[in-house]
Amino acid sequence: MTLKDQLEKIRQERKQSIHDVGDLKNLDALRVELLGKKGPITQALRSMKDLPAEERPQFGQFANKVRDELKDAIESKRDELKQAVLNRKLQEEKIDVTLPGTPVAQGQPHVIQQIVDQIEDLFMGMGYQVLSGPEVEEDKYNFEMMNLPKDHPARDMQDTFYITKEILMRTQTSPMQARAMEKHDFSQGPLKMISPGVVYRRDTDDPTHSHQFHQVEGIVIDKHITMADLKGTLQLVAHELFGDRFDIRLRPSYFPFTEPSVEADITCFNCDGKGCAVCKHTGWIEVLGSGMVHPNVLRMAGVDPDVYGGFAFGLGPDRFAMLKYGVDDIRNFYLNDVRFLTQFAKKG
Ligand code: DAH
Repeated sequence: MTLKDQLEKIRQERKQSIHDVGDLKNLDALRVELLGKKGPITQALRSMKDLPAEERPQFGQFANKVRDELKDAIESKRDELKQAVLNRKLQEEKIDVTLPGTPVAQGQPHVIQQIVDQIEDLFMGMGYQVLSGPEVEEDKYNFEMMNLPKDHPARDMQDTFYITKEILMRTQTSPMQARAMEKHDFSQGPLKMISPGVVYRRDTDDPTHSHQFHQVEGIVIDKHITMADLKGTLQLVAHELFGDRFDIRLRPSYFPFTEPSVEADITCFNCDGKGCAVCKHTGWIEVLGSGMVHPNVLRMAGVDPDVYGGFAFGLGPDRFAMLKYGVDDIRNFYLNDVRFLTQFAKKG
């Protein structure tokens, strides 16, 4: 076979193998093998020296032509394979933009948080500060400065989780009264603050008790604050949270940190005050404790009870939510069952 015939054979065969390659990697390997230094074309050009001189230019031309042809064939095969890869990818990643999307579940504030937010908005509008305090609290603030010395029998009213003898999980948000009064500079004006938060009691959980629940403490200290201010404030809370037809009634009670102490009742939401099973036929439902801050509490926080005085209250958002929505088991608020919680989705 002449050199030219050999080259022609290479041309035919290799064009076929280029045509048959299925992927870019193999195509590249083929290119290196065909057009590289050890490739058949280079070899053919090398053997050219064995040809008679007059045949060489023609053969050289032919060899170059074959090389260019194979090069072109490789290039167009490469384009073809690249396009195929792209097409496959496009096919795989095809999305139908007209399909309906997967709905994203939207979160919302917890129902208790919604009530706390409402209370905060109301009081901030009246110029109160909103403070938050530690849940791991000192006995000193939780009890002693609230006029409950170590041996005070009223400590039994609040079964306590103690961490050490002096450190406990706060049983009430009332310690924030002492902390706020200690810090407040009365030369700058009255103290008006609320403090929402979580409190803990060593109670066995049942429909009306939870070992963890919420409270919002409130306190106003200034000169010349009276019980009428307290009642007016509580009336506003009732109107804001329940509606204008709700009224407040104060009943004498006892708390160690207030004197006099009162419990506040609100018109029964169930019967509008007419009397029903929910309000035990009184027309009223108890919602919070309050009173005029005890002189001992003022004194212990460094406030002169002969000059300053005021009222304080402690209300329970859990109880408010139960009354407002007719929830009969407080534990529902803490089970994180979205079927329960989404019922209180905020509108708008
Ligand atoms: N801390 C009281 C409790 O947990 C509630 C309370 C009653 C708070 C009277 C007050 C108050 O500020 O004046 O039972």
